[in-house]
Amino acid sequence: MGNKENIFSEIQHLRREIERHNYLYYTAAQPEISDAEYDALFHRLKELEEKFPEFDDKNSPTHRVGAPPAKEFPAVEHTTPLLSLDKATSYKEFLQFHKRVQKMLGVSDLFGSIDYTVTPKLDGLSVRLRYEHGSLVLGATRGDGFRGENITQNVRTIRNLPHYLIGDAAKLPVLEVRGEVLFHKNDFIKLNDELEMQGEKKFVNARNAAAGSLRQLDSKITAKRPLRTYIYEVLYYEDIEFETHWKQIRFIENAGLPVIPYAEHCDSPENVKKYFKWAVDNREKLPFEIDGVVIKVNDISYQWKLGTVSHHPRWAIAWKFEAEEVITTLLDVQWNVTRNGFVVPVAVMEPVFVAGATISRATLHNEDQIERLGIKIGDKIVIHRAGDVIPAVLRPIAEMRTGDERKIIPPQNCPVCGSKLFKPEGEIYRRCPNRSCPAVIAESIKHFVSRKAFDIEGLGDKQVEVLLDAKLIKDAADLFTLKTEQLIPLERWGQKLAEKVVANIRARKKIAFDRFIYAMGVSGVGSHISEILADNFKSLDTLKNATLEEQAGNR
Ligand code: IVH
Repeated sequence: MGNKENIFSEIQHLRREIERHNYLYYTAAQPEISDAEYDALFHRLKELEEKFPEFDDKNSPTHRVGAPPAKEFPAVEHTTPLLSLDKATSYKEFLQFHKRVQKMLGVSDLFGSIDYTVTPKLDGLSVRLRYEHGSLVLGATRGDGFRGENITQNVRTIRNLPHYLIGDAAKLPVLEVRGEVLFHKNDFIKLNDELEMQGEKKFVNARNAAAGSLRQLDSKITAKRPLRTYIYEVLYYEDIEFETHWKQIRFIENAGLPVIPYAEHCDSPENVKKYFKWAVDNREKLPFEIDGVVIKVNDISYQWKLGTVSHHPRWAIAWKFEAEEVITTLLDVQWNVTRNGFVVPVAVMEPVFVAGATISRATLHNEDQIERLGIKIGDKIVIHRAGDVIPAVLRPIAEMRTGDERKIIPPQNCPVCGSKLFKPEGEIYRRCPNRSCPAVIAESIKHFVSRKAFDIEGLGDKQVEVLLDAKLIKDAADLFTLKTEQLIPLERWGQKLAEKVVANIRARKKIAFDRFIYAMGVSGVGSHISEILADNFKSLDTLKNATLEEQAGNR
């Protein structure tokens, strides 16, 4: 037995040593040993683990090579919501944020300033990582902010992410952090070159590559991709208090976690402006893609005072870089009908690569916007797009006109059902009056099953269209009586998907009231308003019977 104990302690020692060298190599950039020495440690550990499988541990560095393929990623509820960020696109907008913060905290310029922690905004994927007693036990995607996917197998393969914490953090019962998973630019280029050589499809940008690699069911593939992670938030902790965000960052750094680089203190809006300029000027030189800077109120007690709204905290803001602009040709304008019967113009364009993606369609919003832009079919147009933001048409280039351009003429009849459109006085949209217009029905059902509404997994826009075409549903209510046998014969469905979708629909027979309100798709009632209504009225009957004043009073 004594012998076995020795072996176990050697295994443990090797694991920690290897983790320490990983940290020195990837995070501190100060390796102490050569690659050959590292390989020797690794080899010895592997040998012992193979001989003594009873000492296996999922967090062993040998597991960085991946685990057997998963069938699917199980869902995980987040301990605290992974919120998004409010955004500013100019100094003026940042100042508005700053003034709001000052006002809410009752701090004026004369009596002490607000201290901010400022970091680059990394263009990757947000992940939540949970450590228990210093050991990595969970990695999850952000998902809808409340529920994500369990991708622990995959995050274990990320080279610069420690499986064990060091220092005081290792003693905490729970520590959850949030960070971004991404590729360094040079690693991304190398990966695409390799994919091309193997005759495989290349990724359009580093962010998509990171998403594709992280959400691999086969973690052995993830392990071959040189992903990295950088941590920028402490999400949840027990048995410890922090005074400032800066101290949180230093704490996770001392825990051996790879902390977001280039973090700075800024004690005035002017200094934030300087930092932003630094980021704009140095963006190209940084090892990873960034799309702006994130500014957070440093004082944790201030963060509590400011609180959050459903989408974002009031104590932080993302100041995004200006969107990239490119020129393309407007080929046509298509008129789409929304779930409320509004007829909206969509630009159909010569495909063009902008801000990391190929774009061929963009909304033109409404007829007034077309008028304002003075745009014609056949025009050379300037479009822009910032990261995940919807592309927008900025202006036509009048100097490039040939005379063959055509005026954009809005339709008189619904492009889907042919009904005569009407435009109420003072409104900007023409509307289809037909409540049974196939477009209105299809769009309402797509909204009904969407993520913030009934969230029926496996039922996307395409599947809804297929169900309607096959005449299996006429409205959203019909979804609940669908049977597996009806779905199996549909194109690209099959037994497994059919069973899964029917089970997912069943599982959503009961949902939270705010989701239900949102799913109704009432114009102007988004997820935030739905939450407020649900909070105040509690049930459908009370909401239905409330007077207009009562409903408005809660907005
Ligand atoms: S802080 C509640 N810091 O940006 C605040 N987020 O647009 C938590 N992101 O989903 C976020 N770099 O994935 C923070 N330095 C940074 C970030 C960052 C990138 C991402 C994050 C979030 C998105 C919001």
